[in-house]
Amino acid sequence: MTEDLIRTEPEEGVLSLVMNRPDKKNAMNMAMYGALESALAMADHDDKVRVILLSGSNGNFTSGNDLADFLAPSFLARESPVMRFLGTLFQARKPIVAAVEGMAIGVGVTMLLHCDLVYAGEGARFQAPFVNLGLCPEAGSTLLMPRMMGHQRAAELLLLGEPFSTSLAREVGIVNNTFPDGTVLASARAKARQLADQPAAAVRMTKALLKREVGAALLEAALHEVDCFTERLQSPEAQEALEAFMQHRKPDFSRFT
Ligand code: COA
Repeated sequence: MTEDLIRTEPEEGVLSLVMNRPDKKNAMNMAMYGALESALAMADHDDKVRVILLSGSNGNFTSGNDLADFLAPSFLARESPVMRFLGTLFQARKPIVAAVEGMAIGVGVTMLLHCDLVYAGEGARFQAPFVNLGLCPEAGSTLLMPRMMGHQRAAELLLLGEPFSTSLAREVGIVNNTFPDGTVLASARAKARQLADQPAAAVRMTKALLKREVGAALLEAALHEVDCFTERLQSPEAQEALEAFMQHRKPDFSRFT
């Protein structure tokens, strides 16, 4: 069951990892974080894997964290699956290529900030609706997004939390290149193969150098975000937002100050 939630397909130096929970638009639950973390950790230690290719099944990348899991008490405990996943993603030595089709929401956006090459379909839809849910951003995004795109653009994406297009994602640097819908995975796979043909040790060293400056600050920022996120999860605003999602209604934040 757990293996199914993350499909793994090895092929000529490229390990393909597919988030696979199509009935929930690939929303990430604890079991998926656990399976994805294990697959990433194994890939990083397996000499046969030179590049990791990350995508989602059935035309979507992921609709983000499973909203029901936000209510689990151990969700953000230091050793929880989500925290282990983020730690392994931050420290991955091998390059990660992402192929984004359909929806990339919440952690579906923030995990892309840690990938190395990101390709997206022209019709993909991105959204970082943390504030809309009464929460705050995670996965080091409050450090990385302003560095990547400047404060105002990061503030707009994170404070308003509106859906944004592939062309904007490309303009702000989250996405390398766009392709017609339905062709993204093949194009991303071709790039992953090209990368797998490069000298692997030089690739790993270059990735480490590219991430060196931000490394220590990233961990500190992500841990601070976790403390803030944990506080937010218990807030009346978040309770209202999560209840509203479950009840298929618009949240009403007007009574909170
Ligand atoms: N957590 C839990 N369930 C989710 C989910 C998520 N993040 N995203 C989608 N689902 C579920 C829906 O509840 C629905 O389940 P159901 O069939 O049992 O009712 C199913 O996936 C299909 O989603 P649905 O809402 O019917 O599809 P849609 O195309 O109308 O809308 C989304 C898709 C992704 C826009 C919408 O589901 C949504 O806004 N999800 C929440 C996204 C989110 O806030 N993520 C967390 C960010 S921090």
